Amino acid sequence: MLPRHTRSEIQRRLQKSSPSSEPAKILILYGSLRPNSFSRLLANQVAEILQYFDAEVRLFDPADLPLYDGVNFEHPKVHQLREWSAWSQGQVWISPEIHGNISAVFKNQIDWLPLDQSATRATQGKTLAVMQISGGSQSFNTVNSLRVLGRWMRMFTIPNQSSIAKAWQEFDELGRLKDSSFRDRVIDVLEELVKTTILLRGQSDYLTERFSEAKGEQLVAAEGTVKNTVVSCGLAGSHKVA
Ligand SMILES: Cc1cc2nc3c(=O)[nH]c(=O)nc-3n(C[C@H](O)[C@H](O)[C@H](O)COP(=O)(O)O)c2cc1C
Repeated sequence: MLPRHTRSEIQRRLQKSSPSSEPAKILILYGSLRPNSFSRLLANQVAEILQYFDAEVRLFDPADLPLYDGVNFEHPKVHQLREWSAWSQGQVWISPEIHGNISAVFKNQIDWLPLDQSATRATQGKTLAVMQISGGSQSFNTVNSLRVLGRWMRMFTIPNQSSIAKAWQEFDELGRLKDSSFRDRVIDVLEELVKTTILLRGQSDYLTERFSEAKGEQLVAAEGTVKNTVVSCGLAGSHKVA
């Protein structure tokens, strides 16, 4: 059994959803509770640049989000996070590098996102841009971990990414990114994210359809059809349906 994927069928399905002219809806998550967090400064800057690109932006504050326990779903911060994630068409994830990996504060937010919503990941098909803040020299450990997480959440992670090394020297006294190649890269990433989000939204349900998941339902439907045919031909009982 193979999925019916002809070129004309793919084109027909892709052309079905017309691109909307509404702003791209982007959720920003960052992973630090430090009062002077550079991740938060970067998140603020990202929000500003995205708005400049005409996106609608929500920036989630991880303060007071409880630790994931699989129970506290009615907590207002949990509710807000899950609702904002559902609202978004794309996301920006910013984590500081802590011991060569993402921070616990960041991971806790992802842990609260629902895994399944009627058999699909709730984040499935949304676009994602990943960024990291490091106190030390240039590293890609954290953006790589974020990419793994994005794959697990079945998101379309864009190729470009930002890793800001020695973050303590990259922001001015007003908390804004200084003019630098790091700032240029952040702009590049966000431009790519907005373009990709506009391109993919409306298509993501079709793009993330999986043969392996649809197969069970198709088999049940096909068995039903064969059985009905057998019954209507008066063959029931004389032939086994394979
Ligand atoms: C426990 C701990 C571990 C850290 N590990 C790393 C690391 O592996 N690599 C690195 O470049 N910086 C490391 N740092 C520095 C942080 O990335 C840096 O302080 C960053 O600014 C923290 O993010 P924030 O400003 O958003 O709170 C570490 C800091 C702490 C407190």
